[in-house]
Amino acid sequence: MALVLLLFLLAVSVSADEDAFIGVNIGTDVSDMPSPTQVVALLKAQNIHHVRLYDTDRAILLALANTGISVTVSVPNDQLLGIGQSNATAANWITRNVIAHVPATNITAIAVGSEVLTTLPNAAPVLVSALKFIHSALVASNLDRQIKVSTTHSSSIILDSFPPSQAFFNRSWDPVMVPLLKFLQSSGSYLMLNVYPYYDYIQSNDVIPLDYALFRPLPPNKEAVDHNTLLHYTNVFDAVVDAAYFAMSYLNFTNVPIVVTESGWPSKGDSSERDATLDNANTYNSNLIRHVLNNTGTPKHPGVAVSTYIYELYNEDLRSGPVSEKNWGLFNANGVPVYILHLTGAGTVLANDTTNQTFCVAKNNADPKMLQAGLDWACGPGKVDCSPLLQGQPCYDPDNVVAHATYAFNAYFQQMAKSPGTCDFKGVAIITTTNPSHGSCIFPGSGGKNGTRVNETSLAPSSNTTSSGCLSEYYYGGGSFRSSVILGLLALIAVFL
Ligand SMILES: *[C@@H]1O[C@H](CO)[C@@H](O)[C@H](O)[C@H]1NC(C)=O
Ligand SMILES: *[C@@H]1O[C@H](CO)[C@@H](O)[C@H](O)[C@H]1NC(C)=O
Ligand SMILES: *[C@@H]1O[C@H](CO)[C@@H](O)[C@H](O)[C@H]1NC(C)=O
Ligand SMILES: *[C@@H]1O[C@H](CO)[C@@H](O)[C@H](O)[C@H]1NC(C)=O
Ligand SMILES: *[C@@H]1O[C@H](CO)[C@@H](O)[C@H](O)[C@H]1NC(C)=O
Ligand SMILES: *[C@@H]1O[C@H](CO)[C@@H](O)[C@H](O)[C@H]1NC(C)=O
Ligand SMILES: *[C@@H]1O[C@H](CO)[C@@H](O)[C@H](O)[C@H]1NC(C)=O
Ligand SMILES: *[C@@H]1O[C@H](CO)[C@@H](O)[C@H](O)[C@H]1NC(C)=O
Ligand SMILES: *[C@@H]1O[C@H](CO)[C@@H](O)[C@H](O)[C@H]1NC(C)=O
Ligand SMILES: *[C@@H]1O[C@H](CO)[C@@H](O)[C@H](O)[C@H]1NC(C)=O
Repeated sequence: MALVLLLFLLAVSVSADEDAFIGVNIGTDVSDMPSPTQVVALLKAQNIHHVRLYDTDRAILLALANTGISVTVSVPNDQLLGIGQSNATAANWITRNVIAHVPATNITAIAVGSEVLTTLPNAAPVLVSALKFIHSALVASNLDRQIKVSTTHSSSIILDSFPPSQAFFNRSWDPVMVPLLKFLQSSGSYLMLNVYPYYDYIQSNDVIPLDYALFRPLPPNKEAVDHNTLLHYTNVFDAVVDAAYFAMSYLNFTNVPIVVTESGWPSKGDSSERDATLDNANTYNSNLIRHVLNNTGTPKHPGVAVSTYIYELYNEDLRSGPVSEKNWGLFNANGVPVYILHLTGAGTVLANDTTNQTFCVAKNNADPKMLQAGLDWACGPGKVDCSPLLQGQPCYDPDNVVAHATYAFNAYFQQMAKSPGTCDFKGVAIITTTNPSHGSCIFPGSGGKNGTRVNETSLAPSSNTTSSGCLSEYYYGGGSFRSSVILGLLALIAVFL
């Protein structure tokens, strides 16, 4: 009786908890993977209370015991066929990988397979059976109310995703999606969706504005509008989540919540991946976290929590593919942050910094002649002290116009107390929260803090976004951009996703 009551209370508190949370994915393709104890220490230090694992590694599940951290575990794709074909195999899996760890380890969800429809379509016919068998095994152990069962999807199964109101799941998958949604609905579970505005953006060949992908403010006339619903979209993330809501309602499922099981931005890429930068990764993830924790919801469902797991905790250096593939992490394997997120509020998830530093830097790829002109102006009429740029002085190296203009632009910006319009230089300057200091070259505005090799990116505390008048002027100065182009392109992109 007491147990039943306890389970009842647990179930009630889970469903009553409507605040969105931020979690992180923990991939382990890391050559010097930290020990489970170190991983958990990092999670605790960063106030991360929700994680998703790609398997059910025993050592990490043991290390997570008695931490209260809520854990989504996964049935790897290579075990899916076996589980989907045999309820006994499913029951065994639950015994070995779940019952062995609960309640000490707070397992709250099981992702049965990862992007199966798009990566392992031949297992699709057994997918729903696999979820049902896993669920039955949980029911048999009275764990079904505290542990939800679902499966992750690539957002590429959503077609015609803009405008969101016209989105639908690729109809080839209706024979799977309909019973799947029925199962999610009847078991009180949720749709697990991976949302990657980074890929939407790069596949759009620059037609989707970077600002729209990064949650930066858009001028109202540049927002994407769904002409059926008249809802305004200010970022790609919301548009994709709403497309999923609409795709579900197209199949008559209107009450299945969405949890975003992966989203992020790579901080480094090869020469063909020019938008995989520290600044973009920091901006995306900082804005994403703020957006989610604010319980903003989406235009279709304002205020409805869209909890999100960031991809990912560590840079996975062993992953194959382009350079970006190894650089989605928030942390290096040694626990040093790749960059410090622009979040305030000590004690909240991933938030350490409490200051508001911003800097003015030369825009990458800006016309060198314009940079030189701006540099000359700043060091001349602008009255900036440019002596640190002289040969033999701390900021001489690297001796190129981008680096020198960056120093001078920033010095001017700080000298003008960062007043609006002072980081423009005819559009070749941009405000950033990443401290450009390096070695002994300390930029004005960095409070004497130093950029070191190890911590080179971890010195940019700010509570604010990197948006500014000059930024949007840079992106929109041409005035040729039209939201109808975005709409069309988004529709096209959906085909490639
Ligand atoms: C397990 O995680 C859930 C979801 O975050 C939370 O509500 C619950 O309190 C946690 N349980 C324990 C024992 O910490
Ligand atoms: C598996 O299914 C069979 C027949 O459908 C049933 O008799 C058996 O009890 C099930 N086993 C488990 C472990 O659920
Ligand atoms: C829909 O899914 C089928 C089966 O995977 C695939 O062959 C087809 O290309 C998809 N359609 C689109 C438009 O992506
Ligand atoms: C959804 O419901 C409507 C109205 O009840 C019905 O006409 C339609 O066929 C349903 N669609 C699906 C995919 O079940
Ligand atoms: C937070 O949510 C409110 C509405 O609930 C919204 O007006 C505001 O813009 C949101 N802030 C952020 C940073 O998303
Ligand atoms: C963030 O704060 C925690 C707790 O105060 C601390 O242990 C951790 O080292 C800090 N991280 C950074 C990058 O400063
Ligand atoms: C950060 O900025 C806010 C608003 O601009 C200000 O109230 C706060 O004092 C600043 N914090 C620090 C540490 O400078
Ligand atoms: C900054 O770091 C360099 C070494 O990278 C060091 O020589 C210099 O003294 C440091 N400056 C400050 C202000 O800490
Ligand atoms: C990097 O930053 C952390 C936290 O601020 C600090 O403890 C550590 O000493 C720094 N490392 C170096 C090499 O400066
Ligand atoms: C950003 O800073 C401005 C003032 O500089 C402030 O009004 C605004 O609330 C800040 N936004 C966030 C999300 O902190």
